[in-house]
Amino acid sequence: MANDAQLFQDIIAHCKEYGFIFQSSELYDGLSAVYDYGQMGAPLKKNLRDAWWKSMTQMHDHIVGIDAAIFMHPTTWKASGHVDNFSDPMIDNKDSNKRYRVDHLLELYAETLPEAEGKILLDMMDQLLAANDFDGLKQLIESRQIKCSVSKTCNWTDVRQFNLMFSTQMGSVAGEADTIYLRPETAQGIFVNFLNVQKTGRMKIPFGIAQTGKAFRNEIVARQFIFRMREFEQMEMQFFVRPGTQMEWYSYWKEHRKKWLESIGIPADKLRYHDHVKLAHYADAAVDIEFEFPFGWKELEGIHSRTDFDLKQHQEYSKKKIQYFDNDLNEDGKPIGNYIPYVVETSIGLDRLFLTVISLSYQEEHWTKEDGSNDSRVVMKIPAAIAPVKLAILPLLKKDGLPEIARELMNECRPHFQCFYEEKDAIGKRYRRMDAIGTPFCVTIDHQTKEDQTVTIRYRDDMRQERTPMAQVRAKVLELLSKI
Ligand code: GAP
Repeated sequence: MANDAQLFQDIIAHCKEYGFIFQSSELYDGLSAVYDYGQMGAPLKKNLRDAWWKSMTQMHDHIVGIDAAIFMHPTTWKASGHVDNFSDPMIDNKDSNKRYRVDHLLELYAETLPEAEGKILLDMMDQLLAANDFDGLKQLIESRQIKCSVSKTCNWTDVRQFNLMFSTQMGSVAGEADTIYLRPETAQGIFVNFLNVQKTGRMKIPFGIAQTGKAFRNEIVARQFIFRMREFEQMEMQFFVRPGTQMEWYSYWKEHRKKWLESIGIPADKLRYHDHVKLAHYADAAVDIEFEFPFGWKELEGIHSRTDFDLKQHQEYSKKKIQYFDNDLNEDGKPIGNYIPYVVETSIGLDRLFLTVISLSYQEEHWTKEDGSNDSRVVMKIPAAIAPVKLAILPLLKKDGLPEIARELMNECRPHFQCFYEEKDAIGKRYRRMDAIGTPFCVTIDHQTKEDQTVTIRYRDDMRQERTPMAQVRAKVLELLSKI
């Protein structure tokens, strides 16, 4: 599947055509790297979010969920390091005004060189980046005559740091003191609530706090559809542990999260670990779970052992004690006492998970019919449990009392799972539309239904059809859904 550019373009077009994803403000020619989820996308996204929430909170004894605000006190971001460090070195081309991330510009250029030469260049870049040597980076770009893809010139500005946080003003008076940020990650809303939750929930370490919510980053190289967005949603969990036990929990979450991804239908061979070699200054271990997207292996989820960095920083900046009293006894039979907990974090982008599911589900099938003619369909084989619509209810004709019977079935089933009623067009066309949005089951009501109260149930994945008593449809679909 890697680097299948045409397949990726087909998936993007399909997402638009069937109401999964639209470009934001398309009416005004769109807003770059911002997307809206349509009538099929929003329920699929919700089902994924619900599945994550259930596995993290309902199915776990020691994890609770919260919903912190997007706006936070500005000092939060000073303490977390985002004000000073959440930035990338950028360079602008003076002729086209196009801005580039320096590492991306050099990486793209390195791809055009023979392998060994490209590696030497990237090693030089890494050294300059590590030393924050911006003059050196500019010289490297100029000495290689690297050109802007738009203006085709080498007329570059100096290299500058560009913070990825969006800021806005709170209150009526604009000014430095009122500047607040749109959170670039949800995690800090968890850290600042650590004591609130621990005390009010009487939580005993080890325990976790989970949340899902929007995050914002002014990504410069925003591309690949919903892979890298400026407004996106994260699903994060911070697991607070006793210092010294963090590696055990890191291994636990590394394995547990991959298994969960497999449990929602992602094949194991499409997932792999990528250990971080260069660690952030606060981490003592970090790994990405990568998925093989149509444009190659890329990060889907991160597992980070963040030590006590964040809580310690918030303690220092807030000047309030953020400690936990551990009653458990140590080897001397005395309580372990006070400490700042260590944290193992799991962090997955909901939009990236969505992209993973649709990349896997999208299939074009071609076959020869019994009469020798060719047929084809585009089918979204979305796992039934997360599909936006579970059952389509289709009266064969718009007359002879068939719509009334279909409506009865619809009323019976809709409190239990999402149904879709449609009476327009030939039945074959309606099946194709249901395939295209990933509806796992369709039921057709025809004249025979009036005689023997049976209906035809049609399965999306193999297009098999079978006659079933109408009275059993609800139970049958519920049973099929519970098996997934
Ligand atoms: N709290 C840790 C944290 O935010 P991260 O690796 O920067 O770590 C975690 O982000 C996850 O959020 C990523 O694995 C990815 O799935 C998602 N993510 C990050 N930036 C994103 C963006 N610009 N667009 C979509 N998803 C993004």
